[in-house]
Amino acid sequence: MKKILVINGPNLNMLGKREPEIYGSKTLDEINTELSQKALDLGIEISFFQSNSEGEIVSKLNHEFQKIDGLIINAAAYTHTSIAIRDAVSMHKIPVCEVHLSNIYQREEFRHKSYLSDIAAGVICGFGDMVYFLALQALAQIIKS
Ligand code: DQA
Repeated sequence: MKKILVINGPNLNMLGKREPEIYGSKTLDEINTELSQKALDLGIEISFFQSNSEGEIVSKLNHEFQKIDGLIINAAAYTHTSIAIRDAVSMHKIPVCEVHLSNIYQREEFRHKSYLSDIAAGVICGFGDMVYFLALQALAQIIKS
């Protein structure tokens, strides 16, 4: 079975409580439970990782090297700052979907820069928690064909 890893970066553990007007009212656990069901329907094995630490995200990506077929990543604030996460993503020669709950291009200028977009197969942002489901659907189609 093809494997997809979902990585969430800093402060996304606070979803549901954190600025719900921007990030919605669902918790990360609720989103992940729904994603697991959707993955089951698509015949995809899915796993989840959240960390507030840049180094832990890099280590997780290194650990998963050559073990996964697709990656969904919301690197949160590290999207805009982390060359280390970019390098760790870049060495995986697999399709990557960058996601953001909010439309980062409608927000502050510092959120317009992403270190991941140019190495991603695609970017989905601005549709709230739906971005994870759209990403899963897109990646499942790419890696199964
Ligand atoms: C975010 C957007 C980032 O700019 C922000 O730092 C986040 C979440 C999003 O999902 O909209 O923490 O990645």
